[in-house]
Amino acid sequence: MEKHTIKYLKDYRQPEYWIDSIDLQFDLHEDHALVKSLMKIRRNNEIADAQTPLVFDCEALEIVSVIAEDMILCPGEYGHENNKFTLFKVPETFTLEITTRIKPQDNTALSGLYRSGGTFCTQCEAEGFRRITCFPDRPDVMTTYSCIITADKEKYPVLLSNGNLIETGDLDHGRHYAHWKDPFKKPSYLFALVAGNLVCIEDTFKTCSNRLIDLRIYVEPENKDKCGHAMTALKQAMAWDEEKFGREYDLDLYQIVAVNDFNMGAMENKGLNVFNSKYVLASTETATDIDFMGIQGVIAHEYFHNWTGNRVTLKNWFQLSLKEGLTVFRDQEFTSDMNSRAVKRIADVRKLRAGQFSEDSGPMAHPVRPESYMEMNNFYTMTVYDKGAEVIRMISLILGSERFRQGMDLYFEKFDGMAVTTEDFVATMEEASGVDLGQFRLWYSQSGTPRVKMVQTHDLQTGTLTLNFSQTTPGDKNQKEKSAMHIPVQIGLLDKDGNEINNPNCGLFHLKTKTDSLVFENVPEKCIPSIFRGFSAPVKIETDYSDTDLAFLMARDTDPFNRWDAAQQLYFREIDRLLEKTQKKEPLGGVSPHVLAAFDLALDGAHTDRALGAKILTLPDENEIGENYENIDVEGIHRVRCFLKQGIAQQVRERAMAIINECASVPASDISFAAMAKRSLKNLLIAYVGSLDTPADADFVFEKFNQADSMTDEIAALTTLSQMTTDHRTVALERFYNKWKKDPLVIDKWFSVQAVARGDHGAGEVVKLSGHPDFSLKNPNRVRSLVGAFTFQNPMGFHTPGGEGYTFVADQIIALDRSNPQISARLVSGFNHWKRYDKNRQSRMQQELKRIITIQKPSRDVYEIVSKALD
Ligand code: ARG
Ligand code: ZN
Repeated sequence: MEKHTIKYLKDYRQPEYWIDSIDLQFDLHEDHALVKSLMKIRRNNEIADAQTPLVFDCEALEIVSVIAEDMILCPGEYGHENNKFTLFKVPETFTLEITTRIKPQDNTALSGLYRSGGTFCTQCEAEGFRRITCFPDRPDVMTTYSCIITADKEKYPVLLSNGNLIETGDLDHGRHYAHWKDPFKKPSYLFALVAGNLVCIEDTFKTCSNRLIDLRIYVEPENKDKCGHAMTALKQAMAWDEEKFGREYDLDLYQIVAVNDFNMGAMENKGLNVFNSKYVLASTETATDIDFMGIQGVIAHEYFHNWTGNRVTLKNWFQLSLKEGLTVFRDQEFTSDMNSRAVKRIADVRKLRAGQFSEDSGPMAHPVRPESYMEMNNFYTMTVYDKGAEVIRMISLILGSERFRQGMDLYFEKFDGMAVTTEDFVATMEEASGVDLGQFRLWYSQSGTPRVKMVQTHDLQTGTLTLNFSQTTPGDKNQKEKSAMHIPVQIGLLDKDGNEINNPNCGLFHLKTKTDSLVFENVPEKCIPSIFRGFSAPVKIETDYSDTDLAFLMARDTDPFNRWDAAQQLYFREIDRLLEKTQKKEPLGGVSPHVLAAFDLALDGAHTDRALGAKILTLPDENEIGENYENIDVEGIHRVRCFLKQGIAQQVRERAMAIINECASVPASDISFAAMAKRSLKNLLIAYVGSLDTPADADFVFEKFNQADSMTDEIAALTTLSQMTTDHRTVALERFYNKWKKDPLVIDKWFSVQAVARGDHGAGEVVKLSGHPDFSLKNPNRVRSLVGAFTFQNPMGFHTPGGEGYTFVADQIIALDRSNPQISARLVSGFNHWKRYDKNRQSRMQQELKRIITIQKPSRDVYEIVSKALD
């Protein structure tokens, strides 16, 4: 088998040659593209001398010609093997012109220059630029780019690249050209080119220094009326970044292009973002409220990268979280300010607990700043992004918002135009604030999720309440022994009536040692501490709260996040109690009265804050529950969760109906946060009612489906129906398909709804759907909507005891690895936790992993994940 090499952070060296400028010319044709690259090159005398060869990266390209200082070189005068282009002896400064030929129409990996439908587009992060031309394709080589694009004028009227448009004109044979120039230095991963038959919507933004910026969003002609929301979000993001971070936009033009075939969410190329159309296109008929929120968040994320990522970039890929963790933190703050802080926090923490915690305890566990990788694309992970954002959030908490802002200002001041490291960031935060973050740095270098335990002792005689904390982090392949972390714990005290007690020890407690305690004096009886408010650190928390304490916190905590979290803990405990019964084959009996009472009380509360109410009333999903157990009981968890949901539904049916009616009046066109909140509460309660699965309930949900006038309501009713046994299910699915078959983003939803439903029926339905004429492995959104949803959101289906789910997914992985390794590798992680299942499932999953790795030439992407999982 081919040996894939591992790259280490400790081996980082500066580049041997700098590029002072690059002028690119692309001639785009139907069956190839010619790329001419003219570079001014300068030796880095700090580490190189006249003997140092020049080595560039290159991949999947043909070298047509090489001209050094006007001298045409023959193939023998340069090296071209193992994805490296080499000149053995070069002067200190010189010009080099390399012409390459590539085949965008055959580029199914969607990295480099490829075609999405009739549009040419690029994706260069992380290492796609080397698939276009020979270049030192690493983020610490920054240079200025100009780019001339020539193409057929009728087929490709729109020609775009980074920066400002210098010139356009017509050429012979029906062709035309456009010349773009980007005045800002950038690394190659931020280069972009787009050519296609696109239309745009235009707007402007006036910056804080009164500069007028042109804003354009390009889409296929039929989608022109679906860009309004994205444009609004962009303008909100631009204003917010000025206000909250003092960051003004720098170019005179900001362009966004939506494409249908895209490996990830979106890409922050300088002045020319390329987006997955899922994160641009929306109308209330075709997009759900969640889609609208997703668009707002991703548009903002990519915009914020202009400062955190582009103006200040990365020294090497190990530093990825420097831009991603920080930019996720910034987009989270933006969304919180635009909507509801508590609701955003809850959504983010759910994602972190179900996704990142599980990554952190599996074979792919890595620190926020990884120390090695085989394939960089495998490290665009929840650890780098979401745990990375938690690390920034903790820094801002420890410094306080004012000093954090001063630190950010200093960071931009010191490093504008440079390629830097997470260490540079932390050191700057220390410099600006005077706060010691020495121990805190472990959050970047140590993998795994710390566990914090809190036990209370309350001396009623003296009124002394002591909170005894302890922390441990389980060892893993990265570090066998873990050191104690600096963990910020945000604490409040509530008296027996739920009033906040003013005690000098309330606020931020710094847990820095393995064990420590915090002592509060003069604390009255029946007082309850509320800890880790707002989820002040990404840790697993264990407490000695009684069920009564949890019910109290759920109803009365002044911190809304902790109200939600108390509800979660209460549900988890109930599920655990029921799970023990199923495992002992005892009858489940009923749902505990205190859980029903707490739920009832939360329903009352939902009147005042519907969005938060809907979150509190939502049961943890099967993955979140599974994450609490070392050995995962797939059927038990499924059975118990259904039982709990139905038990609650029976109890609250009448009240739920009343609230459903109350929330029914909101117009579909209203996408204000309040309107979304009404729809989310209503649809959640419809799902509870639907879980009872009686014929009358089926009629009720079917009626909701038929009445729906927004995609939010339509897909919610369809999702509920799809989990029921009613015949309405088939009718609704068919009706939905016929109504939307021309809209690929909606058909993705149609696939997903079925991919996550009825796991107890096995994998048969999903296997059948993969043969549907609309299913295709070529489109990443479609793969995610069927195979991804099935693998990650349908535990009962994926883990069918006969192994059909595993075989199906492994087949898709193997087929996909030939065309798109990045997407294929993402699916492999569905098998990562195979050791946590029963013997039968373990051996079946292991067998599939072995089958995947023994295929002919697995990609580096798939090889890395499978080999780590099997290790
Ligand atoms: N920088 C992009 C973002 O976070 C993600 C691009 C990742 N692409 C990839 N092929 N790994 O917005
Ligand atoms: Zn990003």
